[in-house]
Amino acid sequence: MLIDTHCHLSNDDYENLDDVIKTMDGIMIASGCNDKTNREVLELVSKYDNVYGTLGIHPEEIDNISEESFKLIEENLSNPKIVAIGEIGLDYYWVKDNKEKQIEIFERQLKIAEKYNKAIVVHSRDSIQDTYDILKKYKIKGTIHCFSSSLEMAREFIKLGYKIGVGGTVTFKNSKKLQEIVKELDLKDILLETDSPYLSPEPFRGKRNKPSNVYYVAAKISELKDIDIKEVLSITCSNAATQFDLHI
Ligand code: NI
Repeated sequence: MLIDTHCHLSNDDYENLDDVIKTMDGIMIASGCNDKTNREVLELVSKYDNVYGTLGIHPEEIDNISEESFKLIEENLSNPKIVAIGEIGLDYYWVKDNKEKQIEIFERQLKIAEKYNKAIVVHSRDSIQDTYDILKKYKIKGTIHCFSSSLEMAREFIKLGYKIGVGGTVTFKNSKKLQEIVKELDLKDILLETDSPYLSPEPFRGKRNKPSNVYYVAAKISELKDIDIKEVLSITCSNAATQFDLHI
């Protein structure tokens, strides 16, 4: 079975989202980023058996939120199909002058995750040390999605209880560093993801991504680690089930 542990499924991104979901032979965990996409996630999880969801406020969305945004997240955490808070985190790539506000919104959501015993889906771009220092203060599990730091940092996050989210970038020719990290890490610490509609794996690089392409991520990992793809799928699926308390 395939599990895409992190994707974005919005009607705005796909001509036929229903088709995209139905052609995925497995489970996908769709992440919200703001009020609109969080509501879309809630609709999708009620409509499709194989779609699970996460609700959260992405660091790039912190100027578009209100108290209602936190309420929407908190009120829906009892829904068994909402398996984590995310996509949340820190992004210093685009905007650096609002670090304090990013950290405040991130921590507010971490406190919610801790209170309700929920996993998290973490976005960290050009902010790995701050992300680590903050997560270290909490007792939460989850995924460091689209991991792009060093092997040493990966090991530190694993020690805290996180899994390393690996997506389409691992298939890119210029991703030697990530490929080395994947070779070194134990499969039990890796989760597969697509981050659809972004970051399509080879041979679809540059095209719109979709959850079923998670297969190509698994295939690359099987090649890098020289193990059967069936083993990659079975171990990473069981990692996802444990990490997100999926009853599958
Ligand atoms: Ni994402």
